[in-house]
Amino acid sequence: MSLTSLSTTSINPTKTRVFSGTRATGRLHLGNYLGAVKGYLDLQNNPDFDCIYMAMDAHTITTPYDAHGLAQASREVVMDYLAAGLDPDKAVITLQSLVPEHMELAFLFSSVVSVAKMQHLPTFKDKVKQHPDNVTMALLNYPILMAADILIYQAALVPTGIDQEPHIEVAREIARRMNDLYGTNFPEPKRFTTATQYVPSLTGAGKMSKSVEGSSINLTDSLDTIRKRLATCPTDGGQGEVLPTTGGVANLLTFVEIFQGQARRAAYEADYLGKGLRYGDLKAELAEAIFAYLAPIREKRSALEQDLSLVDRIIKQGAEAARTIASATVAMTKKQMGFYGQN
Ligand code: TRP
Repeated sequence: MSLTSLSTTSINPTKTRVFSGTRATGRLHLGNYLGAVKGYLDLQNNPDFDCIYMAMDAHTITTPYDAHGLAQASREVVMDYLAAGLDPDKAVITLQSLVPEHMELAFLFSSVVSVAKMQHLPTFKDKVKQHPDNVTMALLNYPILMAADILIYQAALVPTGIDQEPHIEVAREIARRMNDLYGTNFPEPKRFTTATQYVPSLTGAGKMSKSVEGSSINLTDSLDTIRKRLATCPTDGGQGEVLPTTGGVANLLTFVEIFQGQARRAAYEADYLGKGLRYGDLKAELAEAIFAYLAPIREKRSALEQDLSLVDRIIKQGAEAARTIASATVAMTKKQMGFYGQN
């Protein structure tokens, strides 16, 4: 991550373009890392791809958020990206709001999307349930902004979880509609599944998520915090005739497999079906294993904390590289849509 080579960060038009991002709500957790960022790493390290990764801070404001913490939360995402191995020499890394063209393109796109279509998306309905008093236009527009994030770079591939598929479909529909109506040339993006893992929640239900209190372990958590998090994971009597396939115990076993290997999991399973499984021991060992697994990320993260101006320069350079493409796409789109002054 030298600064001299940083200045060469650019976007190569001949490669397959990849775009992805993480809603900027603070530090990344294990689910973000194993479920997404590890996949970003593989793509950045593959010379066939040209990758752009951002902290999606404009998406953060689609649900209630803390304005005093937004800038810091956004920088935390970038720092965790860098600590996890994303490299500004290999990928464009920045913040969404520093490329305001995303928001401009989203407004243009909103003219080809019906309100009813957005209201019927499962992701929208889920958020309405979570925040019934905050059903804003920004929330309704979430998928349109996401389509703009992707299409503004003509990205072909979007490494992201299956839960984002409805949004990628919206992006494809917008691309088709814009191309039909205005003769633009947006490619239809595809969701891309990388060699990532599904990381369950510590609450026993669903996937690890920042928005569900107590469900996650952050990349930079202390051993003590990891222990406390695991302690809250619900368990049972530790013995039975069949292994649970859902809930806290199933999730703990998944964690054991990820961080301690298949053999350790098999041993615990045998205990469960036989003499009984002691969750206290399992959780203590697992906490150590997770903590050790995260050591390299933690070390890189603390080095970055000593050099915040480097982080800020990476963000700024990434934004400049991204804006070169983004502004060209917006100009092309406005021209095709008939706006004044676009030659
Ligand atoms: N909606 C994505 C999520 O919650 C975050 C996101 C915003 C995104 N814009 C994007 C992901 C564009 C991929 C591409 O995970």
